[in-house]
Order: sequence, then C-alpha cells, then structure tokens
Amino acid sequence: MPNLEPSARLSSLPRYLFAELERKRAEAEAQGREVVDLSIGDPDLPTPRPILDRMAEAASDPANHRYPSSAGMPAARAQIAAWFEKRFGVALDPKREIGMLIGSKEGIGHFPLAFLNPGDEALVPDPGYPVYAAGAVFAEATPVRYPISESSGFLPEIRDLDRRVTPRTRMVWVNYPNNPTGATAPRAFYEELIAWAAKRDLVIASDAAYSELYYDDPPPSVLDIPGARERTIEFHSFSKTFNMTGWRIGFAAGAAPLVDSLVRFKANVDSGAPQATQIAAAWGLSALPAHGPALRGVYRERRDAALDGLRRLHCPVPTPGGAFFVWGRIPEGERSMDFVTRVFEATGVLLTPGTGFGDQGEGYFRVALTAPVEVIRRALQKLEALTPWRSPNVSPSAAIR
Ligand SMILES: Cc1ncc(COP(=O)(O)O)c(C=O)c1O
Repeated sequence: MPNLEPSARLSSLPRYLFAELERKRAEAEAQGREVVDLSIGDPDLPTPRPILDRMAEAASDPANHRYPSSAGMPAARAQIAAWFEKRFGVALDPKREIGMLIGSKEGIGHFPLAFLNPGDEALVPDPGYPVYAAGAVFAEATPVRYPISESSGFLPEIRDLDRRVTPRTRMVWVNYPNNPTGATAPRAFYEELIAWAAKRDLVIASDAAYSELYYDDPPPSVLDIPGARERTIEFHSFSKTFNMTGWRIGFAAGAAPLVDSLVRFKANVDSGAPQATQIAAAWGLSALPAHGPALRGVYRERRDAALDGLRRLHCPVPTPGGAFFVWGRIPEGERSMDFVTRVFEATGVLLTPGTGFGDQGEGYFRVALTAPVEVIRRALQKLEALTPWRSPNVSPSAAIR
C-alpha cells in the first residue's frame, strides 16, 4: 500500500468544523426542505456590468493570454496607487510598494511563508479569519491567539498583545473592518498599535479586505499612521468591493521589503494574477465613487433588517460598523454549535457558529448579509417561531443598543 498520508503541517490544522452542518444541509435539501443559507460570506450580487465588459475586452486581447508577472501589471499597480492616494491619503510607489495577488487570501496565506522562519511566532486574532493561523502553521511557525472581545469593541487590548510577545514573535495580524464581528478600528487604535509594534520591533499585517464596506466613516489604512509605512503590509481585495470573489484578484501594499519578499515567494509557486482580471479590477476603482455608495446602501438595508429582527427576538447583538456580518450572542447556557444546529433543524436557517473562528467565538453566531433583504427578513421570521432567546435566563436588558 502506498503511504498517502498528508503532511504533518496539514494534519495539524483543525478539522473542518462545518462538515457536520454541511451533512445536515445536504440531508435537508434531499428531503426537499427549504434551506436559507446565511452562513457564507460570499456576495450574492453580480460583478458590475462595466467591469465584466472590461474583462471581456481584455480577455480577447492575445497580449493577455500569456503568463503575467508575479508582481502584477505596471498599469494596474499605477491605477491602484492613484486610488490609494485619493482614498487613504497614502502615496505608494507602485513598482516597489504594491504587488498584485490572486485574491487577498492568496497573499495572506503565503506571506508567512515569505517572512517567518520555523519556530517564529505570529499573533493572530481570536475570533478571526482562519487563514492567519493556517499560514503560520504552513511556515512551521506558531500562531499565538490573542482575544478580541465585545467589552473592548472587538479591538485587542495592547496589554493582551504585549503579554503574548516572546523573543520569537515577529508579526501581528489585525483585520478591520472585521470578520466575523463587523467591528471597525479608529485611527487612535492604530496609533497605539504602531507605537507598541515599533517598541517590540514587530511587523503589522493588516487585512483590509472589507475596507470599502462600512456604514459610517470610511476606515483608514494602517499605512496612513505615522511610523507604520516601514513595518506594515496591508492586504486588499476586490472580492467584496466589486462582488468579484470568483475572479480572484487583490493586492498587497506597504513596506517595500515585505512586498518584495511576498512577490519573490509567489514567483516560485504561482505565475501571477490573470491580466484580464487585473485590468478590469483596477479599472473598477475609477467607478468606485458611484458603485461604492450603492453597494453600501444594499448592505445597510440588510444589516438593519437583521438587527431589527434579532433585537425583536431579544438577541444581544452589537451594531457592526463595517464588513457584511452581524455577530450575535446565542442564548445563555447553550454552545454555539448546538445552537446553530438546533436553529437549522427547527427552521432550515443556516448560521455560522462563532467557534468556526476560534475558541473565543464560543457564545456567538455570525449572520452573513449575503442574501437579499427579504430572505433575511424571512429567515428571522422563521427564528421567531423558535423564540430562542426568550428563556428566563436572558433578560432583554442584556441587549447592546
Ligand atoms: C477577513 C477576510 N480576509 C480575506 C478574505 C479573502 O478574500 P479574497 O481572497 O477573496 O480577496 C476574506 C474572505 O472571506 C475575509 O473574510
């Protein structure tokens, strides 16, 4: 028998938490039951037509049929630099400080392999996007989880970060607007973070995949904070901004040596993002002043419908400032996975258990606002029949806002 065991690195990653939920979902669908899926953070809306037109045009040009460069097309990077300066007030050198990615996940997953040595440590948020920890594990480094909790607006406390620093710590991941909590970070937080990172000589890896999905003030770039430029790499995505998750396109921006390491790593494992998508996505940035407010309007209506519905059920749920998630508390005394399973079995509504994002997600569930507003309303009506929060243990006054 051949030995087909996966690597120890791969085997050490946590087993797929949602396998059981997926089995239940398939079973329900096979029985013809209606499933309302609010668990997947993948936009239901199409890529805007003008972007598709650009892509079709670029796809017909034989110049775009050949291998792209690992760093990305100079013209696309120049367009990104122009947008970045307008949007964030940060003037980047497109040749040295911007690299195109095959979706931001690709860069987030690969950066630790380009930057960390075996035995190094990376601080990662809990709850958080699982790729930060997985990237560290693949680099034979250690992900060290730090909590982000509701009492501090889902921002890390600097003392919590500091307590976790060892001589092997080299980087810290931050992600605002945040998945899964929907929290946003004010400039003051980043100022404190950068001052601390400088003292500890750490690199900041900022995941800004949701930078254009906000409900109030536009979130800043970490790169705009004094002292950040020399020690920060920021990951941006076209996926959520332009409903382009299927096209796989994003970029990294920041300290030239960090971007260069990532590009050099990529040259060894991929051959760059397809040029037609680079051309279309970079062009899309010029349409953002019109497209952005319309998109944010759609998510605002969905968010408000979800918050209204959940609060009517007495579910304690903070108001998210960005991204397209609502992060609510499950009824006291129940576990996240049990709650989500119970809701699904009783109503066909699929939510994500908070523990899918780390141990600190226990006690929470996530609603992805990636379904039409009427679907969200209907899902919450179904939950009403279940009245899960009206247990004598939970007082409505526990609700936040
Ligand atoms: C926090 C966060 N970062 C990055 C990504 C990756 O996005 P993409 O690879 O499509 O750019 C996601 C996708 O869900 C995400 O939630």
